[in-house]
Amino acid sequence: MDMKSLQDTARTLLAPGRGILAMDESMPTIGKRLQSVGVQNTETNRIAYRSLLLGTPGLGEYISGAILYDETLRQQLDGVSFAELAKRQKIIPGIKVDAGAKELALHAGEKVTEGLDGLRERLEEYRTLGARFCKWRAVITIGEHRPSRACLEANAHGLARYAALCQEAGLVPIVEPEVLLDGDHSIETCYAVTVETQRCVFEQLYKQDVAFEGMILKPSMVVSGKTCSQRAGVQQVAEQTIRCLRQAVPATVPGIAFLSGGQSDEEATQHLNAMNLLAKKMDLPWRLTFSYARALQNCAMNIWKGEATKVDAARKALLLRAKLNSLASRGEYNPTMEQQKAA
Ligand code: G3H
Repeated sequence: MDMKSLQDTARTLLAPGRGILAMDESMPTIGKRLQSVGVQNTETNRIAYRSLLLGTPGLGEYISGAILYDETLRQQLDGVSFAELAKRQKIIPGIKVDAGAKELALHAGEKVTEGLDGLRERLEEYRTLGARFCKWRAVITIGEHRPSRACLEANAHGLARYAALCQEAGLVPIVEPEVLLDGDHSIETCYAVTVETQRCVFEQLYKQDVAFEGMILKPSMVVSGKTCSQRAGVQQVAEQTIRCLRQAVPATVPGIAFLSGGQSDEEATQHLNAMNLLAKKMDLPWRLTFSYARALQNCAMNIWKGEATKVDAARKALLLRAKLNSLASRGEYNPTMEQQKAA
């Protein structure tokens, strides 16, 4: 394992003021997103939309890496591959390598992420196609008697086996255990489940000899369930999320890049900012930044709606969202900055 090169990639991805754009929606998910703005899920439309995102002038100032989907890494626009398009923007191309979350046997309502079979060979190919880091997402559901120990352990084991294969192939693994927002649970419940999940993940990573210095954790934030009647405020989310990280994440991990998980664009930015304000006072060992899909893309998608004449406006909206999250990753965001949107 070339530890130095893994660390260099991880450090570049986590460079101050930069974060990651997740644009790796699977075929059904991109279909849903396109359909929500009245656009058909065709290859032409997927290329048009994803090149709108990655071709945004200046995006590399705020975005260090872009997570692509298998299809995207193989596509070209006017003879230029998406990996090349990213590199021209000084954005590192990455790739989602899991095969999705499937029903966990004997555990109704719980899922386990698949995709380990043949992964070593796929990673080799992804590297030749230009990818330098990877992503694998596991989902944990909160509910009555959930998550089960079986679900936590199966998912953590999968994440650890994936991370080990990535490091062996010279690719930085983004390890993504997502505790889902769905449900009416309290922030305290989310805290307990998230600590347990992350501890279980790091135990398995340790057992598989994954080098913590050469990986990035992509967790969900500690928040109240979507339908909880009394949702916790920004400060409480920031405090509980950091408290959770301090209980579970080794100091040698270089950084945390949060997912947005269905929070509103502004909530996701505010939470990240509040955490970075706290981090300034606490001397935390990790960089805290973003790896958002929806909270970065929503605005651009809703402006674009498949119309070529709206590409510039959509790109402006994406760039603003990226800039605001960049500021939040330094604790320098202020909600009044949202007014630039109207301007
Ligand atoms: O796997 C999910 C993405 O990488 C993050 O997506 O920010 O919309 O939750 P999200």
